[in-house]
Amino acid sequence: MSRTRLLLPVAGLVLAAALVSPGCTRAPSGEGPITIGFLVKQPEELWFQNEWKFAQRCANEYGFELIKIGTPDGEKLLNAIDVLAASGAQGFVVCTPDVKLGPAVMAKARSHAMKVFTVDDQFVGSDGAFMDVPYMGLSAKAIGRKVGRALYDEFVRRGWPIEETAACAVTFDELNTVKERTDGSTEALVEAGFPAGRIFRGAEKTTDVPGAFDAANIVLTQHPDVKRWLVFSVNDEGVLGAVRAMEGRGFDAETIIGIGIGAGTGLKEFDKQQPTGYFASCMISPLRHGYETTEHLYKWIKDGVEPPGDVRTDGVIATRANYRQVLVDLGLEDTARE
Ligand code: GLA
Repeated sequence: MSRTRLLLPVAGLVLAAALVSPGCTRAPSGEGPITIGFLVKQPEELWFQNEWKFAQRCANEYGFELIKIGTPDGEKLLNAIDVLAASGAQGFVVCTPDVKLGPAVMAKARSHAMKVFTVDDQFVGSDGAFMDVPYMGLSAKAIGRKVGRALYDEFVRRGWPIEETAACAVTFDELNTVKERTDGSTEALVEAGFPAGRIFRGAEKTTDVPGAFDAANIVLTQHPDVKRWLVFSVNDEGVLGAVRAMEGRGFDAETIIGIGIGAGTGLKEFDKQQPTGYFASCMISPLRHGYETTEHLYKWIKDGVEPPGDVRTDGVIATRANYRQVLVDLGLEDTARE
């Protein structure tokens, strides 16, 4: 390979680095094209694909460039920030694969003078406290409580004998926003009168369907006497994994009440001809988490408008019977489904 061909990419990188390094010739706020990144921990999950979709809607409406990158681990996340910087991005929205990466991400962003808006999972500093970085997440405890309350109501409506019934909680306590959800559901169930001793927890290794399937199978093996199950988890995937594990052991819509949290994956169960154990969903908004986060960051970059520090979004319980209307009410009627 010729010397020139070897040098050219290097010269290109140096030039790109010079353009994006702090204190040099980057266009000040309000001038020049704006490019924003949107980095997500699990790009295969429908929730994150929908966040991207609504972030793209924001980019189209305001006329800026959006770069979407899946960043399932710390190395990929830190590399992606360099890639964004080299592309001229002035900031990014991020759902981090590990909340403890917060200090490293912020140091890297600072080195490129980039602004950061966190979504879904909140950065934790080296002292264990949440970091002071703009954030939009769920009102996790309140949403978990809605799930618990709705599970209890349906349990009572069906008149299930408590001695034949138990609750399976598929948990992931390492992540605060999801621990709050399952803690909230447990709290609400117990407050309503469900015995705490009949709530069995299975910790999943990953917050996806296979992770929940494995976690629930352990709970099922430990409790072969249970004839009817309530199911709750951190998200739709958690409930679906548990429902699939239960179906593998002969349980069905008559003997499972599962209520998820999400706005995509679980809804596909409602489109099936026959009801399944996925009974209801607490529907949350990828529109707000995708569009609004990106909009806040855009206005911060363009006009210097400081974003709100901590925004929490709510959820609405929907069943097979009314979920289409709830989608319309939430502005999600065109939410992508696989
Ligand atoms: C976490 C979960 C996702 C989704 C978001 C919503 O990141 O892992 O499945 O529920 O929260 O904020």
